[in-house]
Amino acid sequence: MKHPAANPRSTEYALAVSELRYRRLFETAQDGILILNAENGQIDDVNPFLTDMLGYSRAQLLGNKLWEIGPFKDVEASKAEFRELQREAYVRYEDLPLETSAGKAINVEFVSNIYQVNGDRVIQCNIRDITKRKRAEEKLKAYSRQLQVLSRRLVAAQETERRNIARELHDEIGQALTVIQLNLQAILHAPETETISPRVKESLEVVDQVLEQVRDISLNLRPLILDDLGLEPALRWFTKRQAALVGLRVRFHADPLKHRLSLVIENECFRVAQEALTNVVRHAHAKTVTVELRKEAGKLHLRVRDDGVGFDVGAVREKAVRGASLGLLSMEERAALAGGGLELKSTPKKGTEVHAWFPLKWQPPVTEPPSS
Ligand SMILES: Nc1ncnc2c1ncn2[C@@H]1O[C@H](COP(=O)(O)OP(=O)(O)O)[C@@H](O)[C@H]1O
Ligand SMILES: [Mg+2]
Repeated sequence: MKHPAANPRSTEYALAVSELRYRRLFETAQDGILILNAENGQIDDVNPFLTDMLGYSRAQLLGNKLWEIGPFKDVEASKAEFRELQREAYVRYEDLPLETSAGKAINVEFVSNIYQVNGDRVIQCNIRDITKRKRAEEKLKAYSRQLQVLSRRLVAAQETERRNIARELHDEIGQALTVIQLNLQAILHAPETETISPRVKESLEVVDQVLEQVRDISLNLRPLILDDLGLEPALRWFTKRQAALVGLRVRFHADPLKHRLSLVIENECFRVAQEALTNVVRHAHAKTVTVELRKEAGKLHLRVRDDGVGFDVGAVREKAVRGASLGLLSMEERAALAGGGLELKSTPKKGTEVHAWFPLKWQPPVTEPPSS
């Protein structure tokens, strides 16, 4: 008589096949698997991957209670955790610290399910070594923090430099040119200068142009109005000035603010608007530009919208990452550095909207000197 398990249609045969499949899965799994008796916490089975991971032999583990073995040696915590495993059908610890037999600290992701086998409750724990992943994540976090510090410093250094150059242009070169301008005007109006007056006139025109250029460069570098009067007047002024360059219609709205915003917020918001408006002038071919500065949901929202040609944001962003242009990236970077964010929407033939938001941080109030 044949053995029943050899008959392909018998239940025993099906069971044997199923058992074989389970065994192979169990033996070859690339995660650690631990089978516990749900009543007493005794280890009923471990797969080779787990014995390798923990550095214990199968014999050292089988028959022991979960909290009796080295890796789970923090007995009280393990007992409490075991009670939780017994109670809950599904438990997941995202990051559990364990120790291997060699004393190496590892981190695992621990997932357990509870189910019935022949009336016995069994807990199956899947244990994944995430030590490498965690280290890589920590490294990445450290790099990203470093990068953030660096770009913050870079932005700050750039701002200081710009302010210095702007001041020098305005104070030194501007002053010198003004002196020359006044002298030339005096010479022009002095008696007996008919022969030299065409030259003087020409020089005056050149000086006027250069003065205008110096003012423009200085303003673009660092508008003094931003320091002196704050974000709203600076933004209103800059919008009008840019729009006038290409004959754009302007819609400007700013919610009234009781105090001056912190210097960082004023600065970063202005710079984002400056880049967005420069892009409208340069690329959009728009009729109207709308600039809004609103206080919504505890944040400051800047929206710069145009009805111009629009563009494919994805394609441009891809190019930008390869170093083609920096404007869009620097807007995002500045908004993020100030603790806010930025969203860019553009529809070809319809127009573009830059939406940036910033935390509402205020400048400390100026304390009046005590009056005597
Ligand atoms: N408001 C806009 N309207 C149309 N195209 C725009 C607008 N803003 C940006 N773009 C497109 O996105 C590209 C990248 O912008 P940006 O990063 O500021 O670089 P740059 O202004 O130096 O070209 C622009 O070259 C342009 O093609
Ligand atoms: Mg640009």
